[in-house]
Amino acid sequence: MKNNDMITQKLNAHLADYQMFYQNLRGFHWNIRGKHFFELHTLFEQWYDEAAGRIDEIAERILMIGGQPLHTFAGYVETARISAYENTVEATAVMRAVSEMLQELLANELDLLKTAADAGDEGTVALMSELIAGHEKMLWMTRAWLSE
Ligand SMILES: [Fe+2]
Repeated sequence: MKNNDMITQKLNAHLADYQMFYQNLRGFHWNIRGKHFFELHTLFEQWYDEAAGRIDEIAERILMIGGQPLHTFAGYVETARISAYENTVEATAVMRAVSEMLQELLANELDLLKTAADAGDEGTVALMSELIAGHEKMLWMTRAWLSE
């Protein structure tokens, strides 16, 4: 497999996981229940809006290196390792789910960072660095919330 094919494949796997993350955040935004409703309803909207922008950057990176981004629900579900959190409505369960998904995304990004660095693909390295920094911050905040 050529370097670009390997990076494309890993970026598509990450794109699929990111789409699952996005849709799970939308579900949490809609379905969250309890005393933390207002804060979490607002937070998840902010996070899924940010995720939508990141998803676009990942898909366009795939195009820049000559690949084709996955773009169907079926493709995402088939490829993603992150699963759908259905009927998760209680704040602590929701935040645990967010923490688990962030760890999955970070694992993908650290792996992609190394693969891209080995291949001399600086653009993908830069994108991964940005995503890692953002997700480490979100993971820290999520863990701080869970330790209340
Ligand atoms: Fe809304």
